[in-house]
Amino acid sequence: MADTALVTGASQGLGAAIATALHAAGYRVAITDVDEAAAGALAATLDPAGETAFGAQLDVRDQAAFEAVCDAMIARWGSIELLVNNAVVTVVKPVLEITPDEFDAVLAVNLRGTFVGCQVLGRHFRERGYGRIVNIASLAGQNGGSATGAHYAASKGGVLTLTKVFARDLAPFGITVNAIAPGPLDLPSVRALLSPEKLEAVKQTIPVGTLGDPAFIADLVVKLGSREAGFTTGATWDVNGGLYMR
Ligand SMILES: NC(=O)c1ccc[n+]([C@@H]2O[C@H](COP(=O)([O-])OP(=O)(O)OC[C@H]3O[C@@H](n4cnc5c(N)ncnc54)[C@H](O)[C@@H]3O)[C@@H](O)[C@H]2O)c1
Repeated sequence: MADTALVTGASQGLGAAIATALHAAGYRVAITDVDEAAAGALAATLDPAGETAFGAQLDVRDQAAFEAVCDAMIARWGSIELLVNNAVVTVVKPVLEITPDEFDAVLAVNLRGTFVGCQVLGRHFRERGYGRIVNIASLAGQNGGSATGAHYAASKGGVLTLTKVFARDLAPFGITVNAIAPGPLDLPSVRALLSPEKLEAVKQTIPVGTLGDPAFIADLVVKLGSREAGFTTGATWDVNGGLYMR
């Protein structure tokens, strides 16, 4: 039987690339997003028959919504093997202008949402003695970011730390938890944040001189989600064109 994967924030951007790559690699995929219609549309594109992909509404701030999608996946496919925490809100604002409520709103999706996902799926994986979790972090969580807000960067730093905690505590149960920290990717979200001039300026700062390819990140998720990926856990996989070396 093919493995099954739950991807959050999967209706567009990197999440859609990840869901598409997993499906192409033979996974059955739950494509989840706050935008239910867009999630359903992508699922219908991948599999019009609805056998190997379905779309579902999942607001990552809502633990019950995670549990409901898990129940639906188990009812359909019997099990879940992979969780990809990808959903995000990205807000650009100078640090001294961010209100505490704005800070909380970003953390609620990017950090708390990742925590809830790891916990809900972590319980399922622990019962079964197998599971893979891939958290999509960001270079901003390592270097403080450049184009994004402090709330976004802080949330992604938190994701890196959560990855280590879940990795350590779940390792004895056949579960691995890794993070990927991309630099700026060639995605609509980046073009929406940056004017063409700013984008060009950002590219000049990247040692390899280009934006990252979302398809490469998606392939890395497929690799980290595979049965063979049992010896990497608690790691942060840097994919940043040389912007941050350690
Ligand atoms: N774009 C980049 O260059 C870049 C760089 C580094 C890291 N990343 C990371 O890649 C991931 C995807 O980024 P993207 O650029 O594709 O973003 P995007 O904004 O294009 O897509 C984010 C998706 O998350 C969904 N979403 C928002 N709030 C949600 C919620 N409460 N519950 C569920 N879904 C919700 C949105 O509807 C959307 O489909 C994020 O984790 C981001 O931090 C992106």
